[in-house]
Amino acid sequence: AEISPIPQPPAVPFLGNTNLIDTHVPLHSFELLAQQYGEIYKLVFIGGRTTVIVNSHALVRQCSDDTRFVKTIGATLKQVRNLAGDGLFTAYGVEPNWGIAHRLLMPAFSTLNVRTMYEGMLDICDQLLLKWERFGSETIDPAEDFTRLTFDTIALCSMSHRFNSFYSMEMPKFIQQMTDFLTQSNSRAYRPGILQSLPLFGNGSYEEDIKDMKEAAREIIRNRREHPTEKRDLLSLMLGSKDPVTGEFLSEDAIIKNLLTFLIAGHETTSGMLTFATYFLLKNPDKLRKLREELDEKLGPDDGEEISLEQLGECEYLVAVMRETLRLSPTATARGVEPIEDTIIVGGDGDPANPANKHFMVKKGQGIIIQEYIQMRDHRIWGEDADSFRPERMMGGAFEKLPPAAWQPFGFGARACIGRPFAWQEAQLVLASIFRRFDISFTDPSYNLVIKQALTIKPKDMHLHVKLRPASA
Ligand code: HEM
Repeated sequence: AEISPIPQPPAVPFLGNTNLIDTHVPLHSFELLAQQYGEIYKLVFIGGRTTVIVNSHALVRQCSDDTRFVKTIGATLKQVRNLAGDGLFTAYGVEPNWGIAHRLLMPAFSTLNVRTMYEGMLDICDQLLLKWERFGSETIDPAEDFTRLTFDTIALCSMSHRFNSFYSMEMPKFIQQMTDFLTQSNSRAYRPGILQSLPLFGNGSYEEDIKDMKEAAREIIRNRREHPTEKRDLLSLMLGSKDPVTGEFLSEDAIIKNLLTFLIAGHETTSGMLTFATYFLLKNPDKLRKLREELDEKLGPDDGEEISLEQLGECEYLVAVMRETLRLSPTATARGVEPIEDTIIVGGDGDPANPANKHFMVKKGQGIIIQEYIQMRDHRIWGEDADSFRPERMMGGAFEKLPPAAWQPFGFGARACIGRPFAWQEAQLVLASIFRRFDISFTDPSYNLVIKQALTIKPKDMHLHVKLRPASA
């Protein structure tokens, strides 16, 4: 078949198409460009770097194939490498430390092993519940409190370290530094390198924050070496296990990068998901009512007994709510791949035999951004109501029957999210706990979603009032 050119918006000298991308919320620019250019287009950035962007399910499905494409480390992840280096998330697949860490850590994050971390999750979840009970009549900032929760939880479960962020009004310094670092990494990605060194954009503390965070991780390791414990957390696993293939231990440097990686990858994504789920439920009271009914039925009265994993496992509607939340708001909105060899991808419905579909050539090594946020609203897959929050579409066997790659907020293949079972269990517990215990409302009843973007997206300026439900008061 004939090869069609990949469309590109008009470029300007030097900047190329860089000025089309909003540095604060790149997602909105990509949504706009998708409306203008459709299933595929390309952009040229400063320095002549060309990126192809794919938006349709058919194209995403073809690019989700480990035999044809590998993860690429795009502009943003290159910045994140300033802190996390060749840690799991930011490593190039060919870097030896990726393979070693992947083999050592995959079993540690299995659904079965994550069950052993439930106690740590309950511990931190209780701190959130207690805070909301005491402070709920004041204004609650859920994005902040969920960040405290996810940060404290991943740190407690993976390295038995307590940030104790619920015990201070201000965010602990480390969390603040991490948030600043990720925000900076995102905007630096779309800014000319020459400006990075100027103290114009809050660069001042960027290098210092990196140094401090690495030092904090090193301190945690030093502490563990001086006070060994019987605890089989991820830190002791990384310190004590050899890679079955190479027989090598992870170096101290590699352990630091992976500890920081868990903190990066494990907090923003999950806290954003919890905030979005809260938003969608408050905006759709009929769905919230349905969830409440399920929680009351499966978990019984809220009499101070801990929720068990078995009980959570029975809450099907809760799972549907979580799946639907991540479809509409995959907190990691995009990911990057590149072809292993020159290859052809087919637009339209993806069928190469259909003459209505265009064929596009992508060259070996060409960076491609997969817009998961956009493809998970593809009308061909999700129908006319693709933009509405309808958890029912994820139930009763429908989820299992979805075409490959249709729902993939956790990425794909060898480089898919290693923390998925962890995030899932944590989110089940927290959403079940808060919606069972509290009546939750927006402080501003007319609040509509505004998105804030760092490495991931979350609702901006969303504030809540929280009251104990009469039944459990
Ligand atoms: C990778 C999403 C929670 C650790 C990824 C990727 C996505 C993702 C899309 C692939 C990125 C890419 O292809 O470039 C999410 C979402 C989460 C979540 C939506 C929560 C709702 C977590 C948690 C942890 C974690 C709790 C860990 C503790 C990782 C790691 C990788 C990864 C280490 C890199 C894996 C590799 O490349 O080998 N995640 N994640 N994530 N995630 Fe998650």
